[in-house]
Amino acid sequence: MSFSQIGRSVAESATLKLNETAAILRSKGEPVIHLGGGEPKSMPPIDAIVTASLLLSTGEVRYTPADGIPALKKAVIRYTEEFYQRRVEPENVICSGGAKQAIMVALQAILNPQEEVVYPAPYWVSYPEMAKLCGAVGVPVHAEDGSFYPRLQDIEQKVGPYTKAVIINSPNNPTGAMYPESFIAEIVQFCEQKDLYLIMDDIYHRLIFDGRKPINCYRYAKDLSENSKLVVVNGVSKQYAMTGFRLGWAVANKKLIRVMTNIQSHQTSGPSAVVQHAAVGALMGVQSGVESLRQTLENNRNVLLARLEAFNGVKVKAPDGTFYCFADFSAYDKNSQRLAQRLLDKVRVLVMPGIEFGLDGHLRISFCGTVKDITEGIERMKWVLDPDAPNELYLGTRKLVRDW
Ligand SMILES: Cc1ncc(COP(=O)(O)O)c(C=O)c1O
Repeated sequence: MSFSQIGRSVAESATLKLNETAAILRSKGEPVIHLGGGEPKSMPPIDAIVTASLLLSTGEVRYTPADGIPALKKAVIRYTEEFYQRRVEPENVICSGGAKQAIMVALQAILNPQEEVVYPAPYWVSYPEMAKLCGAVGVPVHAEDGSFYPRLQDIEQKVGPYTKAVIINSPNNPTGAMYPESFIAEIVQFCEQKDLYLIMDDIYHRLIFDGRKPINCYRYAKDLSENSKLVVVNGVSKQYAMTGFRLGWAVANKKLIRVMTNIQSHQTSGPSAVVQHAAVGALMGVQSGVESLRQTLENNRNVLLARLEAFNGVKVKAPDGTFYCFADFSAYDKNSQRLAQRLLDKVRVLVMPGIEFGLDGHLRISFCGTVKDITEGIERMKWVLDPDAPNELYLGTRKLVRDW
């Protein structure tokens, strides 16, 4: 059978494969602990459910404008004013099927085949594949000092004649690192000077800890006219615990938004009407759920850190935000794929191999689940890896005895 070059180039996701294996194990009654997920477990805002239900109850669920209904654009404009102190017009906004689609159509609007998009590593798993879907090339940038915090010099070294865009995701999936404000200022100015598109993937910008405040990239832009190549992406998935609704957006110059809309109109005709109404409810309704989610995540992070710090051989950097911790397990196994598989096989704990995010020897551990799952999950991992752990472990009523 023959497939397109692009179709063949897009990698199978080891993350999804592990998820599938875990789901199969669970369906067989295995006590799987899922520390691999990327979604908060709290309820979506009641306002989101009410507004979506109201539309459904009318039965009038029709096509919408491909770039979003006016009420949702208005809500995004309000959000942009509140969090970025920037006033934009409806033509500066596109609503998409998740932040994922907003980034995808932005890249499709920007990149020609063979052109390059640069992003810091470790990176979100979808960036390289999205670049491939455009026939373009993703260029990861590892910080020279080995940290999770890139410096401008690191990025500069990878920018060349084919570079068209830079993506910055802060706080970052998978590391939880929130880049310093000085770095955001530098990268905004650098991209302006080099005439590069800068996509700010701000999907986790309100889920930050230790008293940090969201960073407003527009503060550092000299050019805020319609020539600006700054694209700010956000969505309801993470902050409002609405992952399955599929709604995100981008704010950018009007010409780019028009091209993105043309693309999106032929791909999906825009996001579902029901979901757009839900997002209006989330954005315009009671906001207390976001702060309470943030607090829960900060508490979960602290629990996870305490457990990991008591784990000899694991090197860990406290996440500044998100709900991911990217811990160095290379003392146990430098091959993160093999290690993740071993943890699933031996003790039914699912974590994500760092290689998927561009850095082997690490595991991404999510702390968006329950404290019980976090503590028990780490205890099980310790049992597999730590030679000082007791010889036996109970998974529910099943007794495991170490045989290695
Ligand atoms: C860094 C990053 N950007 C974008 C997304 C996509 O979010 P959405 O659910 O809005 O498509 C995710 C989801 O995991 C993410 O981690």
